[in-house]
Amino acid sequence: MSLTVVANRVPIRKTDDGWKTSVGGLTTALLPVLEEQGGVWVGMGEDPDLPECQQYPEDDPDFLVRRVPLSDEELDNYYYGMANRVLWPVSHYLIQHLELRERFIDTYRSVNERFAKAVLDESPDDPDEIIWIQDYHLMLAPRHIRDARPDAVIGHFWHIPWPAMEVFRILPWSRELLRGMLGCDLIGFHVDEYVDNFIESAEVLLGADVTENTVTLDGHTTRVEAHPIGIEVDRFKKMAATEEVKEKADKLRNRLGTDNIVIGIDRLDYTKGILSRLTAFEQFLEENPDYHGKVSFYQIATPSRTKVESYQQLKREVDEAVGRINGQFARDNWVPVNYRYRTYTQFELCAFYRAADAALITPLRDGMNVVTQEFITATQNGALILSELTGAAYLLPEAIQVNPYDQGGLADAIKVALEMPDEERRSRLKGLKSTVEKLDVHKWAQHFLDSFDR
Ligand code: F6P
Repeated sequence: MSLTVVANRVPIRKTDDGWKTSVGGLTTALLPVLEEQGGVWVGMGEDPDLPECQQYPEDDPDFLVRRVPLSDEELDNYYYGMANRVLWPVSHYLIQHLELRERFIDTYRSVNERFAKAVLDESPDDPDEIIWIQDYHLMLAPRHIRDARPDAVIGHFWHIPWPAMEVFRILPWSRELLRGMLGCDLIGFHVDEYVDNFIESAEVLLGADVTENTVTLDGHTTRVEAHPIGIEVDRFKKMAATEEVKEKADKLRNRLGTDNIVIGIDRLDYTKGILSRLTAFEQFLEENPDYHGKVSFYQIATPSRTKVESYQQLKREVDEAVGRINGQFARDNWVPVNYRYRTYTQFELCAFYRAADAALITPLRDGMNVVTQEFITATQNGALILSELTGAAYLLPEAIQVNPYDQGGLADAIKVALEMPDEERRSRLKGLKSTVEKLDVHKWAQHFLDSFDR
């Protein structure tokens, strides 16, 4: 078997020492497969220095990186437009952020066609070849590939939630997008709920024949399955156990100087529920004066999609909320909310995970949420407060589960987490750690690829 991965981004970036692989869940999962079996990775490649075809590694190549060059206008309409202003908000049930523009779908159509053409140019027309497409940026590419190559083996993994049919059908192009996806043989989602929503969408909107996990349209059957993604557990475990991480965690605790530390770690994205989390922490401080001076909330927000207006607006609102809370509650030597708007390495994040007594992971909606798994792997005795509207919540019943829209419930959960008896913390964490070990990202990739044989 050889593999063609098709994703929005390419897995390599330029450094002073030449091209190197980038850090991220997808590259971690798929590069070992490409390195072992060879193949191609097709992606848009934002770096203009990247040639259209780049062998990697340069000196002794394992696989080919094929770039699909996009103009600034195409990038604006396909990525910032259709992907980030249409498919992202609708899939996360946050339709107040939806911006429907004809130029978005027009460019999305032509860019998807170009991705499909790059696949057809580079991947061998071979029955052992698997073409694995990633995510909501590329819903129409499978159909183009299928039309050109009826016997191709095509998979797609959707990394975000698939919304309820009644929400998905808001999109004027819902049927066309579904038809595009149904060019695949296999479609993966994180959890059964998204599988069910997708199958219902195909049944109601296209009149497709469906079973519990198949969709048949125009004589072609697509299998639809849940494949929950994981993290690289061993690497995280080792990293979290290093002396350097322990020292960094101790330094952080000393610097903050409070008995309790609660952390939140996210991309700055309106789906992550950062604002509601801040107001819940504010309510917790209002209701629990005993905790004044004794608890610090440390929120890290990684800059993301900064060209999109709703992300700029969110940044202003978060800045304002942090200022308001600290303005009201801070006193000598105590800053209740520590907020950092920047990118940290995984190594640095490990120190935050280890230093924390509790993690507040409360997205308004999230396909999986891998920060949850990183926290569970790195922490020794932390408590986890987890939004019930994440994919992770289906898999992690031992977390303190909350409705992220329920501010009072969230404020109560912070108290429950901080006051949880050691015995209970340990036993919950044991269950959480055992699930995360089983979800390892390498197993995820292998399990998905093995599924083509079944
Ligand atoms: O894999 C999780 C995910 O949410 C992707 O679906 C998404 O593309 C990515 O993280 C982050 O967003 P972006 O690619 O726009 O930086």
